[in-house]
Amino acid sequence: MTISIKSAADIEGMRVAGRLTSEVLDMLAEHVKPGVTTNQLDQLAHDLIVHEQKAIPAPLNYAPPGHRPYPKSICASVNHQVCHGIPNDKPLKEGDIVNLDITVIKDGWHGDSSRMFIVGEGSMVAKRLCLLTHEAMWKGIVKVRAGARLGDIGHAIQTFAENAGLSVVREFCGHGIGRGFHEEPQVLHYGRPGTLEELKAGMTITIEPMLNAGRREIKEGPDGWAIVTKDRSLSAQWEHTVLVTETGYEVLTLSAGTPKPPAFVTG
Ligand code: MF3
Ligand code: CO
Ligand code: CO
Repeated sequence: MTISIKSAADIEGMRVAGRLTSEVLDMLAEHVKPGVTTNQLDQLAHDLIVHEQKAIPAPLNYAPPGHRPYPKSICASVNHQVCHGIPNDKPLKEGDIVNLDITVIKDGWHGDSSRMFIVGEGSMVAKRLCLLTHEAMWKGIVKVRAGARLGDIGHAIQTFAENAGLSVVREFCGHGIGRGFHEEPQVLHYGRPGTLEELKAGMTITIEPMLNAGRREIKEGPDGWAIVTKDRSLSAQWEHTVLVTETGYEVLTLSAGTPKPPAFVTG
């Protein structure tokens, strides 16, 4: 396995791409309301990325093996959609939960981040799922440092999620990121401490757990991209792009509107 190590200049490029990615989410946050369609959100994101940021929306026409080219600039996964939801003309309604996943390429570098949004006033169950999934992502992030292993991250997320009565989707994972969208290694959101690849300073990875309120099984939807829970239970996901440092981590997908880390991170 060859995992790229970023130089100081590479990291500066990743910081810029990460900030732009997060700023797209900041902009979208103001538009998530009952009645808006995910196609409208896609158009807003596309225009900001292309015309103002002078950057590239990585999902548009992205075509990994076995997939038709992805047709939109963002992913918008609603309620029981787990990930890779294709934006459409259906209006969001009060109580929906939606994950917006943004990947921006700037000067060849990728930033990848997603957040959950609750449309209007959500149910207790929806709010709890979104909050706990944010915390689960952070349980993984705080394990990141040179010398830690990928299994430490997966184990922290899995333990936290399952103790909360949520299930961890196994078929999709975080990833190395840099000049490529999806680089080595795979970053599983479950596992055993002390196993798998050792992290080294200068690696950049995403941590992006998908947690279901019901069972962990998923299936592919009819459009060839969207993934849904088999039992139609609600699913949530949060994602940051993170740099491994000697002493810990640096979150690269940061901007003015980034939701605050939970108290166990900030003390
Ligand atoms: N942004 C997703 C991730 O976190 C990947 C989306 S691929 C797409 O890895 F083609 F659906 F956009
Ligand atoms: Co990702
Ligand atoms: Co993403």
